[in-house]
Amino acid sequence: MLKPKHPKQSEAITTEIVMPDHTNTLGNLMGGKLLHWMDVISAVSAHRHSGRVVVTASVNNVSFGNPIALGDIVTLQAKVSRAFTSSMEVFIDVWVERQDTGKRIKCNEAIYTFVAVDQRGNPIQVPEISPESEEELLRYDGALRRKQLSLILAGKMKPDEATELKALFSSPQSNPESTL
Ligand SMILES: CC(C)(COP(=O)(O)OP(=O)(O)OC[C@H]1O[C@@H](n2cnc3c(N)ncnc32)[C@H](O)[C@@H]1OP(=O)(O)O)[C@@H](O)C(=O)NCCC(=O)NCCS
Repeated sequence: MLKPKHPKQSEAITTEIVMPDHTNTLGNLMGGKLLHWMDVISAVSAHRHSGRVVVTASVNNVSFGNPIALGDIVTLQAKVSRAFTSSMEVFIDVWVERQDTGKRIKCNEAIYTFVAVDQRGNPIQVPEISPESEEELLRYDGALRRKQLSLILAGKMKPDEATELKALFSSPQSNPESTL
């Protein structure tokens, strides 16, 4: 049995400046570039948790709430929110410091799933996660529902088998704090 770890132990942070070759014709950061930065920083986080080679299994949720302009400073923070048998859900929070005002705002969030694999690419076990902060507990709590949704969308689970997901919609007593 592997020793459980705290989300903080998997934290990975990186900072970038939006350069001309990162932008679209409006002078804003291209979504694909941000997805790439997110993929890299969340892979570092999943590696810190598992100590293994990790591969991206799915990109579960990405929101592009605000455009990010040329010259803005972008900080990405990734942490494992929950680990299952071989897979890990990683949350990425993105902040932007505006070049003109210096104001720092939360800009984006994303959720990636990684799987730890051996040298042959076969999934292997990872340590569990022990959430500590309120936010870590909330993210941990929703992770199984998101895993089930992701597996349904990938055609790897039948909707009928998604017990946790069904409970969110069917129970009148379901916790109003619960999120997907
Ligand atoms: C990810 C990969 C290792 C999964 O292998 P697999 O043969 O499907 O293995 P399994 O069915 O046993 O799944 C392994 C784990 O991945 C999870 N998983 C697989 N697909 C998933 C998906 N779409 N969403 C969420 N989790 C997923 C499974 O639930 C399982 O998790 P668990 O062990 O924690 O319960 C395999 O599909 C792969 O190598 N994919 C390519 C990865 C890659 O190259 N990524 C870069 C993209 S270019």
